[in-house]
Amino acid sequence: MSRIALLFLFVCTLTFSQAFSQVQLKLNTASAQTTIDRNIYGHFSEHLGRCIYDGFWVGDSVNVPKKDRIRLDIVDALKKIQIPNLRWPGGCFADEYHWRDGVGPRDQRPKMVNTNWGGVVEDNSFGTNEFLELCSLLNCEPYISANVGSGTVEEMSKWVEYLNFDGESPMANERKKNGHPQPYNVHFWGIGNEAWGCGGEMTAEYYADVFRRYASYSKNYPNARLRKIASGANSGDYHWTETLMKNVPANLMWGTGLHYYTIPTGNWGAKGSATKFDEREYFTTMRNCLRMEEFVTKHSAIMDKYDPEKKVALAVDEWGIWTDVEPGTNPAFLYQQNSLRDAIVAGATLNIFNNHADRVRLANLAQTVNVLQALILTQGAQMLLTPTYHVFDLYKVHQDAKLIPIQFNSPDYVSGFEKIPALSISASKDSTGAVHISLVNIDANKPITIKTSIDGNWKSVTGRILTSDKLNDYNSFDNQKKVIIKPFNGAKLQGNSLSVELPAKSVVVLELK
Ligand code: AHR
Repeated sequence: MSRIALLFLFVCTLTFSQAFSQVQLKLNTASAQTTIDRNIYGHFSEHLGRCIYDGFWVGDSVNVPKKDRIRLDIVDALKKIQIPNLRWPGGCFADEYHWRDGVGPRDQRPKMVNTNWGGVVEDNSFGTNEFLELCSLLNCEPYISANVGSGTVEEMSKWVEYLNFDGESPMANERKKNGHPQPYNVHFWGIGNEAWGCGGEMTAEYYADVFRRYASYSKNYPNARLRKIASGANSGDYHWTETLMKNVPANLMWGTGLHYYTIPTGNWGAKGSATKFDEREYFTTMRNCLRMEEFVTKHSAIMDKYDPEKKVALAVDEWGIWTDVEPGTNPAFLYQQNSLRDAIVAGATLNIFNNHADRVRLANLAQTVNVLQALILTQGAQMLLTPTYHVFDLYKVHQDAKLIPIQFNSPDYVSGFEKIPALSISASKDSTGAVHISLVNIDANKPITIKTSIDGNWKSVTGRILTSDKLNDYNSFDNQKKVIIKPFNGAKLQGNSLSVELPAKSVVVLELK
């Protein structure tokens, strides 16, 4: 062959491979055993910026349906995605929060300064009973983070008694006086938050002992066995997890945490805009996001050493993309917009959690309303659902379903000299036998063809897709439906063979029945 012909062949091959990738997916439906705990789909609401105040909890000036001061449009939206649990009151705020300031008649509650988030005055009008009322409206489990950094063992122990004891006792009587005769039976308790940082600047060794002490005096009352969660590691701090696993007996610790945020630029000083970014910054965002796989795998491997039966959960109780705030907003309020890129971050991360469901049994996206990777943004009486919200809507089918083990070789998404996997997948089988496959094509430009064969007698495949023209498309108060779920027609079933044409930069969930 002449040199020109060879060159022509090379260019043709390159062009073809750049425009098109084909993946063979193996789905092992017969081995679907591990349950994807619904609590992986949890959320987080801190007293920070406009999450609680002017978010969930509003005054008379906001003309929307409310129960007390809780916005019911937000409640309805979160119920639709089957929110399983809500973490509160922080975050860093938790370690300066004294719960007794937030119970009893509202006009007698003391005010405090929220030193972590802008030095604003906290009037304590949203306290323990209000949070539990919110959770009951949402039909979700409360997850309370107790104050370890500046609180006391007695304070936490009394909070548990206030919420969970069904009898005559000083705290139970106080709860009854405050209008709630029945105990609330709160199971999930965080013992401090980021104890290595804003939660007390502790060493792992010191915190392990502190945890044991707090855990000992947080009692299991009848019908309320506590699931105590240790303030866990920051990203790749494996020493933290190792120290906790080595020093805390499994009967005291239901789970240990992990916090990891995706910073688009990787630079905390200039994180990058939520909506103004180029493809290179999209690539670095996704590269940083996918590090969650490494962190979950390595923390799990350490936990396996001490707990081969996987009794202790890895609770990723803070995660999400953290960008610069929207221009003109209070930098301490962490208000950011949410684009298709955020949806792809959410889809890829939730696939990681699903695929590690044997160890990851709780996670909380930061944060539900108006803060960081929010599901919901509000402006006065207006409320919009972000692309991230729609991913949780798509993925709710995985809650409590059985994880289907999968195998595939992902094509690469290349940027300069770097590459990351372009394809992220997880799959599950629900109690009715339906199979759901969630697919994320991270590549900004190239579609991917996926072929698989699934055992069983399938009659139909249907799908829903979240995508948009541009990666930085977002829903604004003027255009609330720019990025929304649409029907997906790119999946074809023939007998047991399934073929999917997955568009670039998209999140798709298929249902096989
Ligand atoms: O989610 C915002 C903050 O990030 C939380 O308060 C803290 O725990 C973390 O550092």
